[in-house]
Amino acid sequence: MLIWNFFDFSKWSLEKLEAASGQKAAASHPQAQRTFLAGRTALKDLLQTQNLSLEIVPNKKLGFLELKNCFGSIAHTEEISVAVISSFPVGIDIENCQRKVGHVLPKIASQEEINRIDSFQNEIQTQIEDKGLFLWTAKEAFSKASGIGLREGIQDLKVHLTGTDPYRGESSLHTPFKLTTPTLSFHLVRNYLVSICFEGTLGSVAKHPRPYPLPPH
Ligand SMILES: CC(C)(COP(=O)(O)OP(=O)(O)OC[C@H]1O[C@@H](n2cnc3c(N)ncnc32)[C@H](O)[C@@H]1OP(=O)(O)O)[C@@H](O)C(=O)NCCC(=O)NCCS
Repeated sequence: MLIWNFFDFSKWSLEKLEAASGQKAAASHPQAQRTFLAGRTALKDLLQTQNLSLEIVPNKKLGFLELKNCFGSIAHTEEISVAVISSFPVGIDIENCQRKVGHVLPKIASQEEINRIDSFQNEIQTQIEDKGLFLWTAKEAFSKASGIGLREGIQDLKVHLTGTDPYRGESSLHTPFKLTTPTLSFHLVRNYLVSICFEGTLGSVAKHPRPYPLPPH
């Protein structure tokens, strides 16, 4: 099982998000609260479709989300949230296609990985301003699937962006979660690039996400 959704929460009030996610946000800033709740709303929606437990417990030390019956991951940017659930460890990231990442890549990728990006070919690449964004989102998704986030050691989670989508990852790191065949796929939703890191033995990820249903007026 591997499904993901895409949630535009720009028209949602804080109250509506609280009601849908079934919890209150702890952060003090309203936008941070909305972002937090939107991620949980999207994740709970996916869990509900599979009749899985809606219990989401954040790991206090590293920050990943622990679910009762499966693995899951969320990401947010601007007024968009994405969530994914799978029977195996999984990670997701989303970034605006216009984002430039050249200056931050050396922190998370090896020179070899950065050099390879120049010759990277992908069907959606014309929509992406800076091809380094593929590497950035792939690394972030891989880091979340592994449970470490962009901490020390991220350079040892390698992604091989060659050939055609889906792409392979590789790691000998000891991480909270381990994928036997780390696999990465890229998706374009509106003007956002979404990267998902999943267990390759599951096949490929559906190209079209299930949009989070809008609430009735
Ligand atoms: C995890 C991380 C990659 C998220 O990136 P981001 O661009 O800030 O935020 P995103 O919207 O893409 O993702 C946020 C979600 O990632 C998830 N997440 C956080 N830590 C995670 C981890 N270790 N593993 C998997 N997922 C994680 C959370 O669910 C979080 O959402 P929530 O806070 O609403 O629960 C990043 O915050 C990170 O690496 N943090 C740890 C590194 C750190 O502590 N750095 C400080 C010193 S350099």
